[in-house]
Amino acid sequence: MNIIIGCDHGGFELKQEIMTFLLEHDHQVMDAGCYSTDSVDYPDFASEVCRAIDTQTTDKGILICGTGIGMSIAANRYPGIRAALCMEPFSARMSREHNDANVLCLGGRLTGVSMATAIVDTWLNTEFSGGRHQRRIDMLE
Ligand code: RB5
Repeated sequence: MNIIIGCDHGGFELKQEIMTFLLEHDHQVMDAGCYSTDSVDYPDFASEVCRAIDTQTTDKGILICGTGIGMSIAANRYPGIRAALCMEPFSARMSREHNDANVLCLGGRLTGVSMATAIVDTWLNTEFSGGRHQRRIDMLE
């Protein structure tokens, strides 16, 4: 799968770990930055990731900031983006089955590497259920 990943300084270290996990699992990964723990502004990176999905450069995105909250607020302002902040795999599964989430948000200061990789693995391997859930998503547009 083609996946774009972005972060701010609060998510930089977790982004590096998630990128390693994704590459080890044969995904194609686009790194939208940031590239260090120097302070940056999370809306810039949410914009990069959401634009890549909007232009169909990639199917899915992952955004990581300190809590995941800023990234999810920013990403959900873009038409067609359904960003889900997940702290455990059940929410990740539901966000795909029921919400067809196309952006996963994680909190780099809250979620450890093994939990985060479990969330990502579940999220990438769960299909949208469609049916009544599609009707509800259509109501959001
Ligand atoms: C940066 O300090 C922090 O505010 C940011 O990473 C994020 O948690 C915002 O929601």
